[in-house]
Amino acid sequence: MALTAISGSATGIGNAVRERLQAQGDEVIGIDLRDAEVIADLGSPAGRTRAVEETRARCGGRLDRLVLCAGLGGHVEDPALVASVNYFGAVALLDGLLPDLRAGDAPAAVVICSNSAQLTPEIADWPLTVALLGDDEEKARAVAAETSGQAVYIASKNAVGRAVRRRAALWAEAGVRLNAVAPGTTRTPLLEGGLSTPGVGDAIRAFPVPLGRWAEPAEIAGVIVFLLGPDAAFVHGSVWYVDGGSDAVTRPELF
Ligand SMILES: NC(=O)c1ccc[n+]([C@@H]2O[C@H](COP(=O)([O-])OP(=O)(O)OC[C@H]3O[C@@H](n4cnc5c(N)ncnc54)[C@H](O)[C@@H]3O)[C@@H](O)[C@H]2O)c1
Repeated sequence: MALTAISGSATGIGNAVRERLQAQGDEVIGIDLRDAEVIADLGSPAGRTRAVEETRARCGGRLDRLVLCAGLGGHVEDPALVASVNYFGAVALLDGLLPDLRAGDAPAAVVICSNSAQLTPEIADWPLTVALLGDDEEKARAVAAETSGQAVYIASKNAVGRAVRRRAALWAEAGVRLNAVAPGTTRTPLLEGGLSTPGVGDAIRAFPVPLGRWAEPAEIAGVIVFLLGPDAAFVHGSVWYVDGGSDAVTRPELF
């Protein structure tokens, strides 16, 4: 029986991962604003410290798996909060819980990115992306406040994907596998929020999905659980697109 901590476990993809792991007999420590074992706000430094400390106390310093799903969509009114939760809320748990994962059994972590993270090559050099990866939350929040929510979302996911890849060497040395999953459009409360926001909903509906439908949360969870398990023992530092082919048709020459 493995012990897994999941941020964003209350709804959507995080909840689907929880259900899947619990169905196979694993134990889960959920981290969320509500309906979780650890109640913490990943949008603030104090909340992140609380999340790490309470998770550590619950797992007794020994954690087998970590799945980071907590996130906000670009339709949310406060873009600075999107930057704080999506980027800083992920890397604080990654770095904060690495010592506990080192002590785990065949430890592995998966961070949720997005297939929008590479929509255009310029994202990599946006001032917001640079501020996020520079771990400058004050500056990132100031830039985000002047930026559209969708652009903040994309930048936060580009930075999260790169944060995973930048950690590949260190985490391998620590004996902990680390990967990212980049979902496409998935039927969750986050998607509902986007669909019902003027200007955002139409863009989501227009985004091409070759398979002709949106994903169910369980379909994303299945790939996450695979990446956590023994059949993925040689997968490390990768970003897995689980998006019905959207990334392939928007960037056919890149992978
Ligand atoms: N749904 C999609 O189409 C889609 C596509 C690509 C990527 N994603 C990513 O998947 C991840 C999961 O999203 P989802 O679609 O399941 O959405 P969701 O809204 O169902 O789940 C997000 C979870 O994060 C939690 N959360 C939000 N703010 C928080 C905070 N400040 N502190 C702690 N927890 C907080 C929410 O309470 C919720 O349980 C997100 O990172 C999202 O960006 C989703």
